Amino acid sequence: MTGSGTAGDFDVREDARAKINLALHVTGRRSDGYHLLDMLVTFAGHGDRLGFSSASEDRFTLDGRFADQLSQDAGGDNLVLKARDLLRQAIIETGGEVRPVHIHLEKNLPIASGIGGGSADAAATLRGLSHLWNTELPDDALSALAVRLGADVPMCLVSRPLVARGIGEEVELLADFPSFAMVLANPLVGVSTPSVFRGLVKRDNPPLAIHPRPHDIRQWTETIRSLRNDLEPPARLIAGEIAIVSTMLAEAGAGLVRMSGSGATCFGLFETPQSAARAADLMRKERPDWYFEATETTPGEASWQA
Ligand code: C5P
Repeated sequence: MTGSGTAGDFDVREDARAKINLALHVTGRRSDGYHLLDMLVTFAGHGDRLGFSSASEDRFTLDGRFADQLSQDAGGDNLVLKARDLLRQAIIETGGEVRPVHIHLEKNLPIASGIGGGSADAAATLRGLSHLWNTELPDDALSALAVRLGADVPMCLVSRPLVARGIGEEVELLADFPSFAMVLANPLVGVSTPSVFRGLVKRDNPPLAIHPRPHDIRQWTETIRSLRNDLEPPARLIAGEIAIVSTMLAEAGAGLVRMSGSGATCFGLFETPQSAARAADLMRKERPDWYFEATETTPGEASWQA
């Protein structure tokens, strides 16, 4: 299944940007067991890439650093194929027609790593196939499909800085949000999300406090510093490597280090893209078997248009 071309050769291309939880507060729990979360989220320039082309029959191909792991781990549970099938069914139910499709996934993000790789792939599939199949499902219909694929998929549909609440499906965009120079670091130990949630000692923590609204990157950095990832303490108990990779980021010069999602990926914020790139090179030399990626996060729309 691996190695059949790159996402660049296809009719429609979509980036599946890594999702970074700059903060994640666990504020409660629903009766179905899902946790209520308050999250400050941004998206990296780096991520998976997908390509979509019409074909005579459905095909799925994979390449990239983590392709082998996905084909072993995902089995029948591949979110890209689930997203394709869900969108196809929704279009057929509204009387539309869809052609078979060749989907290619360039898997650059580690699997089960707290940066939403599978969710971003599913969201990119919904966006890419909507385009290829020329469908105009309203945004709220697409979001409703997205949440059926996973709590993080609606925010990955947007892939811009935001605050998410509920289980992640209530999304408020942050138009005025800076781009950060960042290093993503992962010791390549998969961490099970349900196990991390089960390890929580407290589930009714204070919500995000972002008042007054910061105006520049320095104020945002200080606000982020005052926030938390409530999943980090239980994840550190499950995977001791999280503490090691966090120390490496701090020693390489990161001004702020935190875990994303349920781990094990941690991020470090750096002063400049150049200092982030140097730090990632240094850490790669120290641990060539781990994952280190320097990236710049996507700014809010207002900063983007400025
Ligand atoms: O939505 P997703 O498939 O990513 O969730 C994986 C698991 O993580 C869920 O089955 C649940 O155990 C836990 N989870 C949770 N509360 C959330 C999101 C996930 O308890 N808001």
